[in-house]
Amino acid sequence: MHDIGLVNSEGAYPDPGASGSGYSQAVGPQLVLVVQDLVKQFKVGQGTITALQQVNLVLGEGEFLAIRGRSGAGKTTLLNLIAGLDDPTSGHVLLLGRDLSTLNERQRTELRRHELGFVFQSAHLFPSLTARENVEVPLRLARTEPAERSRRSHEALAMVGLAEREQHRAPELSGGEQQRVAIARALVHAPRLVLADEPTGNLDTHTGLSILDLMLSVAHQAGIAFIITTHDPQASAIADAIYDINDGVLTPGER
Ligand SMILES: Nc1ncnc2c1ncn2[C@@H]1O[C@H](COP(=O)(O)OP(=O)(O)O)[C@@H](O)[C@H]1O
Ligand SMILES: [Mg+2]
Repeated sequence: MHDIGLVNSEGAYPDPGASGSGYSQAVGPQLVLVVQDLVKQFKVGQGTITALQQVNLVLGEGEFLAIRGRSGAGKTTLLNLIAGLDDPTSGHVLLLGRDLSTLNERQRTELRRHELGFVFQSAHLFPSLTARENVEVPLRLARTEPAERSRRSHEALAMVGLAEREQHRAPELSGGEQQRVAIARALVHAPRLVLADEPTGNLDTHTGLSILDLMLSVAHQAGIAFIITTHDPQASAIADAIYDINDGVLTPGER
């Protein structure tokens, strides 16, 4: 099992390329994701919707990428394919050097569980659990032992600035704080890539910016790559790279 700590004793993240995760050997240290000529069509009734048209994308370690597009442009479809939650009509997704089309369901689940984190528009916290217990959920799924769970969830909450709130239940936290807990939950197993689908969509401008800044600093300091989809112009101002998606066509964007 993948067993890198969230932070090492120096307080810095371990070099994922040297972590022995097994996946990193298959690719150069820099490339987290390669998307090649990705096409996704959905059959609806007699017709076909082309949700993605020949999408190409490359993402390096610790890179923060924003994808802008109106509703229905294909953002969620693209993230689902990158996560291996759905199969493309044609084209390939290489995650940490592994072609998802060559992996079975169990292997994909393992890859997601260890190497990917997810953030959504809503925090989706369990209301009856504390912030700490919510953050521990992915570690329980990965059968991490209790002492390790406790250490990592505390570190992840500290990283998002919520160390003092770990005993609060979700309804006792503000919207921005709840989203921070969701980010801590996405980071607690030290993934290589976080997929965030409109993570600031439910937040006011000021809170949204603080969430974006948080994700950007995690990307750069911890070397965890992020792809966020957004309507938020603030995201394009801070991202390392920006793409626009229109009717399933992805093009490099301008600030
Ligand atoms: N499971 C599905 N079945 C049929 N059409 C779908 C499905 N998922 C998405 N679509 C269509 O694909 C297009 C892109 O959707 P989506 O990726 O959800 O866009 P976005 O996230 O940018 O709002 C839309 O036209 C949508 O209706
Ligand atoms: Mg969407």
